Amino acid sequence: MMAIEEITRFGVSMDTRLLAQFDELIKSKNYSNRSEAIRDLIRDYIVENQWQDEDVETVGTITLVYNHEVRELSDKLVDIQHSFHRNIISTMHVHLDAHNCLEVMVVKGTAAKIRAVADRLISTKGVKHGKLTMTTTGQNL
Ligand code: NI
Repeated sequence: MMAIEEITRFGVSMDTRLLAQFDELIKSKNYSNRSEAIRDLIRDYIVENQWQDEDVETVGTITLVYNHEVRELSDKLVDIQHSFHRNIISTMHVHLDAHNCLEVMVVKGTAAKIRAVADRLISTKGVKHGKLTMTTTGQNL
């Protein structure tokens, strides 16, 4: 059963030009109203802050692009993934072309652990591009 959410309305005072800029921006982002845009900003702020706490359990995705023909690179990446098997829940591998691979891993664990996995993978010599997306378990949001 879903908990019934209590809604609070509040007023915000703001510089008119700043608000006009905000309205223009959220319109271009397809928001139907300010409330939804502000809710998203607040959630993003909370999620960003959760990642400051190293011990909080959270979720992220790691994206890697690399050339599988680079000597021993695939093996190295697989070794690292196996050593963090408790944290890597799922991996998707896409062969982008004859040479390049894209991998997306869903990672779960403490913020510190996820960062450690991402740093190890992204810093591996031969990885062309890597990015950690820090998201949330969705609880309490
Ligand atoms: Ni591939």
